Amino acid sequence: MKSLHDVLYTTHQTGYCQFSFIDLPIEVLLNALRRSNYRITTTDLQVKFKENARQLSLSKKYGTGRFPFHTDFAFRAIPPRYIALCNPYSTSFERGTSVCYIQNLPAKLREDIRRSIWDLMTASGRCVIDGHILFAMNEGYRWDCDFLQPANKYAIEARGHAEADMGAASEIVRWKPQSAVLIDNWKCTHARMDAPELGLDSNRKLMRYEAWGDGRMVTR
Ligand SMILES: [Fe+2]
Repeated sequence: MKSLHDVLYTTHQTGYCQFSFIDLPIEVLLNALRRSNYRITTTDLQVKFKENARQLSLSKKYGTGRFPFHTDFAFRAIPPRYIALCNPYSTSFERGTSVCYIQNLPAKLREDIRRSIWDLMTASGRCVIDGHILFAMNEGYRWDCDFLQPANKYAIEARGHAEADMGAASEIVRWKPQSAVLIDNWKCTHARMDAPELGLDSNRKLMRYEAWGDGRMVTR
């Protein structure tokens, strides 16, 4: 049984926290984030074949397969501080999500990510983006090898083994009905696991709530 306080406190301490809607309705959590001046946006996440996916999406690149570890919206100047991934349906989905708390990675890799610099191609040209987020006295990391290209030796070094190290340090979130995980998107990366052995889970649908704000910790 987890209260709002438990979920926020655990996320603060360990980067993420799983919970059930029975213990904590998602609207209660979203309202707490709104009270702390976070702006909430929503995205439907669905398993898609490459041909049906929109341009510049992970589905376009990986189709129904595994997605590598990443920060959501790593290509934005300030990615959302929190994301809440939810299964609001009454069925469970076999394929889980791996979540890696960056603090649990080897110190050398953490330091390489902190010092990494990346190239980002935008409609107006190439820009440089820092792997270390420092904003309004809060710090964190961004990680995304699909939409960002390494631009210094630390990024190249980190890219070589981050995927394996993040896999080893991660925990798997299983999508039980009416369940969610609150993830500190500056302190954790996450990945979609491989398709299940017994056929495609094309019915897998999740909701994602993104909390955009000034990076402050939510504590109530
Ligand atoms: Fe994601």
